[in-house]
Amino acid sequence: METSYRHQVIVNFITYYESMKNKNLPRTKSSQTQSSSSETHSNTPRVFRRRSFLKGLGITGATFLSANALLMTKGKAQSTQNGGTLTKGDVAILRLLAAAEIIEADLWQQYNELGGVGATGSMSQPYITDLQVLDGDMPQYIADNTDDEKSHVAFLNAYLASKGEQMVNFDAFRNIPPSKVTGVPQTGRLTNLQELSVDTSWWVRYRSTTNPDLGAVFTQQAVQGLNVGQHPAIPVTNADLSSGNHLLAIAFTAGFHFGFIEQAGTSLYATLSQKVTSAEVLKITISIGGAEILHFQVWQDKAGNATPLTDNGITFVDLTKNQPQTLQGNLIMPEPCDFISTSLPQCSIIRPTSAGQLDATGAIKGFIADGLFIGQQRSAEFIDLLLDMAHEADAAQRE
Ligand SMILES: [Fe+2]
Repeated sequence: METSYRHQVIVNFITYYESMKNKNLPRTKSSQTQSSSSETHSNTPRVFRRRSFLKGLGITGATFLSANALLMTKGKAQSTQNGGTLTKGDVAILRLLAAAEIIEADLWQQYNELGGVGATGSMSQPYITDLQVLDGDMPQYIADNTDDEKSHVAFLNAYLASKGEQMVNFDAFRNIPPSKVTGVPQTGRLTNLQELSVDTSWWVRYRSTTNPDLGAVFTQQAVQGLNVGQHPAIPVTNADLSSGNHLLAIAFTAGFHFGFIEQAGTSLYATLSQKVTSAEVLKITISIGGAEILHFQVWQDKAGNATPLTDNGITFVDLTKNQPQTLQGNLIMPEPCDFISTSLPQCSIIRPTSAGQLDATGAIKGFIADGLFIGQQRSAEFIDLLLDMAHEADAAQRE
């Protein structure tokens, strides 16, 4: 690695690390033990002592910043299992995944500030109470999903740096106003959770026996109206916190949005993994991708507990009773479906995993259509950057 380039990598990483430390880390309270007091769908009271990413970063961050990690020479990189520097395709894949994780971390941070365990007893408690209609443990799950995405960002960027590659940093695009609820840091954000159009067809897709990879098209929605118009998934103002059914609709919108985000991550990692060259990069993509699958499975289990409700053009129905298979709430295992060929037996799998579906371009376009970047002051520049990164990742080929 050339000295000037290596210096730039270090500067980028330190800038990134400082921004993570200052802006994105969860409140320390999120690591506190939390027992559920309002279990509605879980029979067993649970106590959590999960590790906090905040604590972890104190150690891991120091490791990342050590000379060993950041001053790795090209020669050292060549001595890894990978056997050399990464291919252009692998770098494009890792950078796109880091980009997706930064986006995920930003939106999860906003959910965590208002709905995570650290927000318990704060101004946003009514939002937490409504989220707990879906499951009493929602605040802990939200805090942990947030930690996980931040760990993915930190790892992917540090890995890129360790291979002499540039990290991904979107700090210049953090300019979207956050929720105005008292207590929420009024810093610019990368994503907008206040004007979402959430496509809930993934719910039907995972309960169907057909597969988008083999041409199936899913238009049926689990929640009528949520995919059109613009809907908040977080309380936007203090007034929202005493808005009755509207606040409940906001919480349920979040519940289905969690599933939407994580099903995209699930397919994205599996699709891009097929294009990876390095065995070590494949280990990374299938291992982090596995965490996305775990997240998705939790959220689709919880979303189905939404209670019947109509608000602002959205209709939540009781998915726990009298529903066809394509909507049945407790069908949370992936229904066996067509896979590879309709002449082969149907198979229980994650899907889609083919190019042209939820590949890099498909996932990023899905985020755009979701409304996540509404209000971005540098919208054209940011969208161009994301789509360029996505196209490069999708163009990667196994070597
Ligand atoms: Fe992630």
